[in-house]
Amino acid sequence: TDFDTFIEGLPKAELHLHIEGSLEPELMFELARRNAVAIPFASVEEVRAAYAFSNLQDFLDIYYAGADVLRTRADFHDLAMAYFTRAARDGVVHAELMFDPQTHTDRGMPFAEVIEGLLSGMRAAEAQFGITSSLILSFLRHLSEEAAFATLEMAEPWLDRIAAVGLDSSEVGHPPSKFARVFAAAREKGLRITAHAGEEGPPEYVQEALDLLKVERLDHGNRALEDEALVARLLSEGMTLTVCPLSNLKLCVVEDLADHPLDRMLALGLRATVNSDDPAYFGGYVADNYRAIAKARGLSREDLVTLARNSFTGSFLPRETVARHV
Ligand code: HPA
Ligand code: ZN
Repeated sequence: TDFDTFIEGLPKAELHLHIEGSLEPELMFELARRNAVAIPFASVEEVRAAYAFSNLQDFLDIYYAGADVLRTRADFHDLAMAYFTRAARDGVVHAELMFDPQTHTDRGMPFAEVIEGLLSGMRAAEAQFGITSSLILSFLRHLSEEAAFATLEMAEPWLDRIAAVGLDSSEVGHPPSKFARVFAAAREKGLRITAHAGEEGPPEYVQEALDLLKVERLDHGNRALEDEALVARLLSEGMTLTVCPLSNLKLCVVEDLADHPLDRMLALGLRATVNSDDPAYFGGYVADNYRAIAKARGLSREDLVTLARNSFTGSFLPRETVARHV
């Protein structure tokens, strides 16, 4: 329909995308074959059938298992290019890719192979599709502060090619306070700051992300809505929220998309954006997320334009580049 064409044609930035979460079952099989890695699935259909989650941890278990087929620099290049090829069709002109180095270095992969593969894919995507991109190094919050510090140290030679640090994985029981010192060190190195908070975790975790990590944007942030004073603070700080509707549905953060709070966020004046999170696992890329939430909550074209504009103002692009996009 016209509405779908309008969504795809809207130039947009994607701010919440785990590149490992864009590993489609087809590529998983190809890499398993290429690297002679055994996977516990007989077919692509079987893989897709396993993607039924009742919470974040359910998903993470299968997501980390899937990442095991990624073994070489070329694999990371191919993974990134597969994402960009798909994102180009959705009107993505800029993407800030989260990657989880610990998922790979803990399996014995050199940090250099992971990041050089991604950077190579990012260069190819800019040349082929004109999509600009940057990297967000995300620490796994179920691992220790010490492990996060070691990861930051590994990244040292590439700091000029990393835009920001983030925080992901199992939220409940791993509050932002656990990583306050690592994030302070990252800030001192000139890195921008984001963190997942308020996906499953309580509003207090969002508060901690603001106070202790000094986040410049908030990944998910859904549960911040439970605390009126916190909402007022997010408003006054002009905080961007990277919301992921299909992820929220698949991970049971919302029971139904019809209950999703995205339009409530917009009505409150919060700078919400729409993103795909882990598109290969949650059943849709960024335009699918715009379409699904627009349909479920009756968003107007004006709302969609606001969401797309927020994706640029909330990006880590230089101000003058943002100005060219909005
Ligand atoms: N939440 C936390 N950790 C993650 C996610 C998410 O949605 N996706 C990949 N790692
Ligand atoms: Zn995420």
